[in-house]
Amino acid sequence: MILVTGGAGFIGSNFVLDWIAQSDEPVINLDVLTYAGNRENLATLDNNPRHVFVQGDIGDSELVARLLAEHQPRAVINFAAESHVDRSIHGPEDFIQTNIVGTFRLLEAVRAYYGQLPESGKNAFRFLHVSTDEVYGSLTKDAPAFTESHRYEPNSPYSASKAASDHLVRAYHHTYGLPVLTTNCSNNYGPYHFPEKLIPLCILNALAGKPLPIYGDGQQIRDWLYVKDHCSAIRRVLEAGRLGEVYNVGGWNEMPNLDVVHTLCAILDELSPRADGQPYKTQITYVTDRPGHDRRYAIDASKLERELGWKPAETFATGIRKTVQWYLDNQPWVSNVTSGAYRDWLGKQYGTNEARGEKQ
Ligand code: NAD
Ligand code: DAU
Repeated sequence: MILVTGGAGFIGSNFVLDWIAQSDEPVINLDVLTYAGNRENLATLDNNPRHVFVQGDIGDSELVARLLAEHQPRAVINFAAESHVDRSIHGPEDFIQTNIVGTFRLLEAVRAYYGQLPESGKNAFRFLHVSTDEVYGSLTKDAPAFTESHRYEPNSPYSASKAASDHLVRAYHHTYGLPVLTTNCSNNYGPYHFPEKLIPLCILNALAGKPLPIYGDGQQIRDWLYVKDHCSAIRRVLEAGRLGEVYNVGGWNEMPNLDVVHTLCAILDELSPRADGQPYKTQITYVTDRPGHDRRYAIDASKLERELGWKPAETFATGIRKTVQWYLDNQPWVSNVTSGAYRDWLGKQYGTNEARGEKQ
């Protein structure tokens, strides 16, 4: 079996659902259930004996050691993290605790477990660390996309904490011989994406008649990948990646934020037109920029394609249409995640005045 951490979050839950659908191998899913973790993402696995959910922290050394000893996984895939850049700007502490200290404690527990495996178990074992393109920093307009040898230049508390975790993973391979793999992926989108992030936030705000907040001039570029393609890349790296190697994952799909939001609006105009017949793009509102906002990310995924034959299945056009349709079809999920604490976050991040479209 495999042990997945953070498997109730956006990417982790998509990974677990796909894994159970495509393989007979059971999954232990360790997730502490922060605001971003949602058991409802995994509702279709209720009563499925191949999915064992454990609520707990990757930084809880005793718990992780016990799970490893009891279940004897042949791989650990680490998705668990604090993942939202804006939250890391408001309060970095949780990012340091989970992304750095948590990853360190997880690595220590895995090192002890790995050390006592028989030779055959050692040969089969993998620790796969899921990371981000943000560790490479920001690109100028015409600079080539990030390769795996691009230097680390993290600019936010989030990306700095992910960079630290990547370095720890690397060190555990070089120092202790732990069989690690690291993936650095670009921006994901798709089902179960928590609506604090640009794409789901704008879909839901559009439908609710609220402003679509664009930071700064909206010309920041991100490189978008459909979440199921990220999951297939992780499966491929787990299966055939070379030990100690880093693989960039991306869909060769750079877009300015404003274009992304215009695309969403056009799809919504078609699938769920506004009652007053006005286009959704009239709800676009420019708000104060994110401090230290990275201007451009772009991933060069050619190593993954060349060495492991991986390619994304979706284009942005197909993936974004599926995503908008998913949010339209899953209103109960939406209402559950947008209650309570979520509204407090919107108030803190966008402020009442900005939410009305007025600059503060
Ligand atoms: P998410 O915030 O949606 O989910 C994170 C999950 O981790 C949640 O279920 C949360 O409860 C859990 N978690 C947090 N702290 C934990 C802890 N201490 N112990 C156990 N579980 C804990 O994040 P996501 O977007 O699904 O990202 C998953 C991973 O992929 C992260 O490591 C992130 O850095 C990386 N990543 C994300 C993207 C993206 O576009 N979302 C792109 C590249 C890489
Ligand atoms: O690049 C990979 C990263 O992508 C992951 O490592 C992170 O976990 C993930 O959250 C994501 O980070 P971003 O900061 O790029 O994603 P976000 O959806 O927050 O923002 C995307 C872009 O849209 C970014 O340039 C900021 C901008 N934005 C975001 C929000 C929430 C807006 O203009 N308005 C908004 O309200």
